[in-house]
Amino acid sequence: MSAITCIDDLKRLYKRRVPKMFYDYAETGSWTEQTFRENTSDFDKIYFRQRVAVDMTNRTTAGQMIGQDVAMPVALAPVGLTGMQHADGEILAARAAKKFGVPFTLSTLSICSIEDVAKATKAPFWFQVYTLKDDDFMERLMGRARDAGCSAVVITLDLQVQGQRHKDLKNGLSAPPKLTPASIANMATKVGWGLKMLQTRRRTFGNVVGHAKGVTDPSSLSSWTAEAFDHALDWNRVAELMKMWGGKVILKGIMDTEDARRAADLGADAIVVSNHGGRQLDGALSSIRALPAIVDAVGDRIEVMFDSGIRTGQDILKARALGASGVMIGRSWVYGLGAMGQAGVTKSLEILHKELDTTMALCGHRDLREVGRDILLVPEDFE
Ligand code: FNR
Repeated sequence: MSAITCIDDLKRLYKRRVPKMFYDYAETGSWTEQTFRENTSDFDKIYFRQRVAVDMTNRTTAGQMIGQDVAMPVALAPVGLTGMQHADGEILAARAAKKFGVPFTLSTLSICSIEDVAKATKAPFWFQVYTLKDDDFMERLMGRARDAGCSAVVITLDLQVQGQRHKDLKNGLSAPPKLTPASIANMATKVGWGLKMLQTRRRTFGNVVGHAKGVTDPSSLSSWTAEAFDHALDWNRVAELMKMWGGKVILKGIMDTEDARRAADLGADAIVVSNHGGRQLDGALSSIRALPAIVDAVGDRIEVMFDSGIRTGQDILKARALGASGVMIGRSWVYGLGAMGQAGVTKSLEILHKELDTTMALCGHRDLREVGRDILLVPEDFE
């Protein structure tokens, strides 16, 4: 553990422990991966102002996200197929988040079901929904999330149609993975991973299998996912879904000021400025470049969260200073999970927290809630 001092270390260990096809699934972007790369490299173009001789005792990174107290303004982003990165992955990640005092978001396309996670963690979590054509299924899904005590839904708007990731096609990745000689050989390279998988019975895409029409077992899932996404999704449909849920709503995948205004007009509780971690529209701006204009456009009307590209506490501080109330992390916690299960997710949160707290102090601040753009030096041509 002592050799692991940063998220990159967790990523290296993750690569060693998880079958190549699942490592590739997470560690890739769509098409040329331009947006995926710039999501991280654009953070390097923003600088901090170093301030000295300020009392640094009694520091705090605590805050609130959609009115919920958090130890630091970081939520675990929804990640599909997490239970293939590590057996019972969603449950382990939700437990780590609960202990750390940050929100966990369960993906519609998780392996463990809403009920599995609720039972194992006994803590409210956020539930992410994709907009699917089947209204009855959507009603039931939202009802299940409500019964499980989920405190918010995150409606993902940027996956009406799916971006292409070359590595997934080449690896023959499907949900669930098809058992072919190549995929079996790929998975068999990681014995520790396989043994843990065999110990769990939750390999079922529990939110969908047995609930969606015609999906009675995991083998029928791939054809369902190809058909189920609602290509006709528009703002009226978003309003319907918000009404269907009736509780707190976070709209995820907003990259444009016009869309941000629409989201605010609908009365959502928050938006997430996100390009899906560079997995959808290749050639879109990096998320951090899109953030300032969106904060300027709607920041006084709606809470603005951020994701895509966070790998350090410094990144979190930059996003916070540019006006995000908090951030979601995707790959940063998945690396930890694949590397070391629950302890790895905890480790990723500890690393980010320490980096955030120390960097905030070196910028001359004790309270993350008081941090603003004045701590940064942002190039004029950044936006
Ligand atoms: C995702 N993301 C995602 N988003 C979502 O709304 N539902 C989902 O099921 C998934 N699945 C998923 C799988 C994998 C492997 C990744 C890496 C990402 C997107 C995710 O919620 C988040 O927006 C990005 O991961 C943020 O970028 P970083 O932090 O990974 O750079």
